[in-house]
Amino acid sequence: MIRILTENAEFQLLEALRHNRRKREQRGEFLIEGVQAITRALAVEWPVRAALVPAVAQRSPWAEDCLTRVDTVIEVRADLFARLTARDEPPELMLLGRIPVPDLAAVPHQSDGVVVVLDRPGNPGNLGTIIRTSDALGASGVLLSGHGAHLYDPQTVRASVGSLFALPVVPVPSNEALIDWVAQWRTKAPVTVYATDEHGEIPLSGSVVLSRPAVILLGSERTGLSTALAALADVSLAIPMAGSASSLNVAVAAGIVLHHVMSSLGSHGC
Ligand SMILES: C[S@@+](CC[C@H](N)C(=O)[O-])C[C@H]1O[C@@H](n2cnc3c(N)ncnc32)[C@H](O)[C@@H]1O
Repeated sequence: MIRILTENAEFQLLEALRHNRRKREQRGEFLIEGVQAITRALAVEWPVRAALVPAVAQRSPWAEDCLTRVDTVIEVRADLFARLTARDEPPELMLLGRIPVPDLAAVPHQSDGVVVVLDRPGNPGNLGTIIRTSDALGASGVLLSGHGAHLYDPQTVRASVGSLFALPVVPVPSNEALIDWVAQWRTKAPVTVYATDEHGEIPLSGSVVLSRPAVILLGSERTGLSTALAALADVSLAIPMAGSASSLNVAVAAGIVLHHVMSSLGSHGC
């Protein structure tokens, strides 16, 4: 067991992982907290450098069990440990997960799969919620294009409630790589690429049937879909809105379109 009793270099590094994207990327490490996220990460044997625990007299059976599954335990002085989390009540355990090398091949080209592509999501809470929703509604993966919220931001990890470890979520290196990835899928199956846009050409009413396999493109909160990504689409869908809102929250739009495509019967849609 390693002990951190002062604000030493190791503690400063852990604290930086909370706020600093560049440090996370440089070290290839990020913080995982929350019972469901930790349980899921350990269940899928996500690479973990260490477990972090506060120096306390007693731990729950769940925490004790988690500690048996990691090679290294770092015990942190309780007041310092509290600084590693945004929660009012510090958790009893965090993991120091490793950031994998992004690999587009991890997202399978399934014959009836649905893959969600997010264009520069600005808000880590939205990003985590879309990952959770994609997992819950059966998407086979999530791709991130452009520079947006960090996939390994603690807020993203928290909002995904463990789903980050349940399906492949991969940042794409460039639009060209994404276009290539879709083209490769198209050599194996008739993939339809659906853009989503509040001003889209097809209103997503109950009678509209969406086909699979499919790619669903979602735009950034501030500026919507980039021209380069919009050009990839076969069809642009608009979720009809009433009232005064000019658009839906992107995570809500993701849930509606994913539910629609998953409940459509198969491969003969628009
Ligand atoms: C908050 S909206 C973007 C609004 C932005 N001001 C714009 O100019 O496009 C974020 C994303 O959510 C999706 N979205 C929001 N409302 C939608 C709607 N009514 N129909 C389809 N997609 C929608 C689209 O993917 C959109 O790019």
